[in-house]
Amino acid sequence: MSYDSSEDGFDREIEKLGIRIKDMDQLKVREDVFDEITLLSLYKLVHRKWITAIGGSISTGKEANVFFGERGEQDLAIKIYRIRTANFNTMSEYIIGDRRFSGIRKNRKDIVFTWTKKEFSNLMRAHEAGLPVPLPLVWDRNILIMEFIGEDERSFPQIRSVHLDDPAGVYEKVLSYIGILYKKAGLVHADLSEFNILYGDQPYIIDMGQSVTLDHPRAHIFLMRDIININRFFKNKCDVRNSDTIFTEITGITRPASTTGDT
Ligand SMILES: Nc1ncnc2c1ncn2[C@@H]1O[C@H](COP(=O)(O)OP(=O)(O)O)[C@@H](O)[C@H]1O
Ligand SMILES: [Mg+2]
Repeated sequence: MSYDSSEDGFDREIEKLGIRIKDMDQLKVREDVFDEITLLSLYKLVHRKWITAIGGSISTGKEANVFFGERGEQDLAIKIYRIRTANFNTMSEYIIGDRRFSGIRKNRKDIVFTWTKKEFSNLMRAHEAGLPVPLPLVWDRNILIMEFIGEDERSFPQIRSVHLDDPAGVYEKVLSYIGILYKKAGLVHADLSEFNILYGDQPYIIDMGQSVTLDHPRAHIFLMRDIININRFFKNKCDVRNSDTIFTEITGITRPASTTGDT
């Protein structure tokens, strides 16, 4: 597909999608996000009725942009991984070594598509293990559509900016989620921190593109790092437990020195 990338041209492209655009300014030519592949992919998702409206931008992160969306009455989060500015090397490290995705080719586009698919399957596994994560609905190329975690079109805040009435209770809950993720879903989050936990009626775990299966050679290093991050966040809010003890409780492994990763 080729498209006219002037602002007018972009508007026409979006119009052709046949959806109601809630905040056109947010979607105006952003070459880095809405390249041809992304538009084509959006096109397809709209055509297949996975998206009926695209709203404003929720977040512009290092690797991805997140937009509010709707599918009829259902609110959506639309996460779009940028192809041009993807951190190829970091992504490769988390993909190579995860047997589910080891067969992929190694160009930038393929890495980003695999990353998107990987986040979809990680969220699905976590969901099936009973964890509060956004339910992933569909992915296409570099776009992931998932359940919206928030209310009145506003995401729940990251836990770092919430006052917690019962920090000790929330701490234990988050640790139990790390344990369930490991034992039931067979995954390590690998980027768990106060940035990737949203807090509304309860904590929700998000952002699982980098999560790996337990056979990844660095899975235990990532797990230890997650535990240390959570302890660091909670330590001035409530008593925290020793990170080695937590690691052993979750894995059944007495932590050998080689898994520290925090040195
Ligand atoms: N399912 C969702 N529902 C509501 N808001 C979301 C959802 N997913 C992401 N967000 C919002 O977008 C931000 C970035 O999402 P995240 O998945 O952490 O991407 P990044 O890789 O850029 O860190 C989150 O902090 C949150 O504000
Ligand atoms: Mg994040």
